[in-house]
Amino acid sequence: MRKKLIAGNWKMNLNAKMAEQFTKLMKETVNTDTADVVFCVPFVHLGMVKSILAGTNIKVGAQNMHYASNGAYTGEISGQMLASMEIPYVIIGHSERREYFKESDTEVNLKALTALKEGLTPIICIGETSKQRKSGRTFSVVRKQLAFAIDEMTAEDITKIIVAYEPVWAIGTGETATKEQAEEVCALIRDEIKASHGQTAADNVRILYGGSVSPENANELFSMPNIDGGLVGGASIKSTFEKVVNFE
Ligand code: 13P
Repeated sequence: MRKKLIAGNWKMNLNAKMAEQFTKLMKETVNTDTADVVFCVPFVHLGMVKSILAGTNIKVGAQNMHYASNGAYTGEISGQMLASMEIPYVIIGHSERREYFKESDTEVNLKALTALKEGLTPIICIGETSKQRKSGRTFSVVRKQLAFAIDEMTAEDITKIIVAYEPVWAIGTGETATKEQAEEVCALIRDEIKASHGQTAADNVRILYGGSVSPENANELFSMPNIDGGLVGGASIKSTFEKVVNFE
């Protein structure tokens, strides 16, 4: 039985004071009995958020990393650095990074492999644009992004990753995928993993949905058989986030 996982992606939001106050509020209100909970916060807040949440079951994650361990990459943060801070999760290949920072499928794969090597859990994002969906290419795009992302992973590696299906057209738009649309693609992802890495890997890998998740739609989305939780943007920095986590 896969445990649900709800990950908040704060993106580039909240200054230090706001992050401190919000994390303290979440510490009081979020119940982690039924789902694993992760806050993926800006790099500069990782240490503070982690220390506020010490002693709770809420985990902290980063939103990106470089695939090299160290070196002359001004402004970058490595997986090794995250691991040395005992940050267990890292988002890889978010569509905003693919679009605005031109991250390629090859880089996404390198980052995911490095994250695994460092003992981090990569939350690997894939998903089609509106144009791709409208032209009937959703499945082929998702298949291709997935195949690149998990290239060279073993079946055991697959059980340590999280895949987030985030249709680009649903991100930050308020236009959530229907539960059927989200389920269909999450099921496809699981089928592809079964074909490439076997039944056990497919049974164990957690597949999240992301894109305009809110307290209002969390229950119907997360109750679908192949959706193991969510990657939540805007609703993860609101005081009502606990309603997304405790969606039932
Ligand atoms: P929203 O929940 O704001 O649509 O963002 C989704 C997302 O990009 C999470 O990574």
